[in-house]
Amino acid sequence: MSLFRPAVEKMKGYVPGFQPKGLGFIKLNTNENPYPPSEKVLNALKEAVNARVRLYPDPVADELRMELAKAFRFPKDWIMVGNGSDEILNLAMRAGVEKNDKVLITEPTYILYEVLAQMQEAKIIRLELDEDFNLPKQVDTRGIKMTFISNPNAPTGALFGREQLRKICRASKGIVLIDEAYADFAKENCLDFVREFKNVIVTRTLSKSYSLAGLRIGFAIARPQVIETLMKLKDSYNVNRLSQVAGIAAIRDRGVMKRTVQQIIRDREFLIQHLERLDFSVIPSQTNFIFVKHARYDAFKLLKELERKKILVRFFNRPRLKEYLRISIGRNQEMIKLVRELERILK
Ligand SMILES: Cc1ncc(COP(=O)(O)O)c(C=O)c1O
Repeated sequence: MSLFRPAVEKMKGYVPGFQPKGLGFIKLNTNENPYPPSEKVLNALKEAVNARVRLYPDPVADELRMELAKAFRFPKDWIMVGNGSDEILNLAMRAGVEKNDKVLITEPTYILYEVLAQMQEAKIIRLELDEDFNLPKQVDTRGIKMTFISNPNAPTGALFGREQLRKICRASKGIVLIDEAYADFAKENCLDFVREFKNVIVTRTLSKSYSLAGLRIGFAIARPQVIETLMKLKDSYNVNRLSQVAGIAAIRDRGVMKRTVQQIIRDREFLIQHLERLDFSVIPSQTNFIFVKHARYDAFKLLKELERKKILVRFFNRPRLKEYLRISIGRNQEMIKLVRELERILK
C-alpha cells in the first residue's frame, strides 16, 4: 500500500525558478520587481517588528481588505486575501474541482494550474493557443467545471482580448478564474467582469508590481458567496501579521507602484528594441517579462551561456516553449548588460 494517494505520488509538483544563494547574479528568471517597495511599506514593516508578533494576525485581514475595497471600489465582502495569489488558485481548485471534473486551461500557461488540477485528479482540457499565443476564435466550454486563464498570460506575456474572455465567461457554467498577476503592467484588465458575472473570480498579487514577492500577498475579487466559500478552506491565519501591515501600506501608497511600473514598461520597450535588432522575435508583452526566440541560436544553449555570465533567465522544457526564453525586466543597467552579453554570444 502506498503512503499517499497514487495521484499525488505520480505528480511532479511545481518547480519554481532557481533562487541563487550567492550574490552578483542578474536575476531575470522569476518576474520579481527589480525596485524596492515604497519607503512607507518598509517603515511600516520596521514599526511592526515588535512584541506583538506573539499574537496571531487578523484571520480575515480586514484592514487590508478595507484598503483594497477602497482602492478597487468593491465592497469588502467581495474580497479575500491570500498567502500569495497561488494560495487562492489552490483554494479555488480545491473548492470547485473533484476527481474527473474537467478543468480548462490554455496551452501554454502558468504551470501551477496543471499541478493543482492533478492534485484533484481532474481531467485537464487543454485549449491550444494559436501561433501568436492568442486564444482561438471558438472555445468549447461545455461540461467544463472550472477554467483558469492567466491574463496577461504567462509565460508568453500576451494579453487576451476582453471580448473573447467575456464570451468564455458568459458561455461557462462553471467558475472562470482570471489570474491577473500582471494586470498592473497591462493596458486593460477584466476586474469589472466580477460585477457582470456570478461565476468569475479575478486574482491579483502584490508580488510583481508592488515589489512584495517575499511577503506573499495576493487577493481575489468575486461575488460574496464565492469569497465566503473560498474563505472556508483557507488556513485560519493565512496572511501573517507583517504581510498584512505591508499590504495596507503598499495599497495606500500605490503611486510608488505606478511609477515603478512605468519605469519597467520603458525598460521592457528598450530591451525589445535591442533584442529585435539582434534577430530575436518577441511576443508582444503586457507584463514585466518578455518571451523571446532567436532566429538561429538554440534557447537552452543561450540560457547556459547567460548562466555562465551570472545572468539568470527562464527556460521551459516543453514542446513549443523550449524554443523560447522568458526574460524578466530588470533595472536599465541590467538590461544594458544583458544586451552586451547577448551581442558577445551571438557574434
Ligand atoms: C500567472 C501567475 N499567477 C500567479 C503567480 C503567483 O503569484 P503570487 O506570488 O501572488 O503567489 C505567478 C507568479 O509567478 C504567475 O506568474
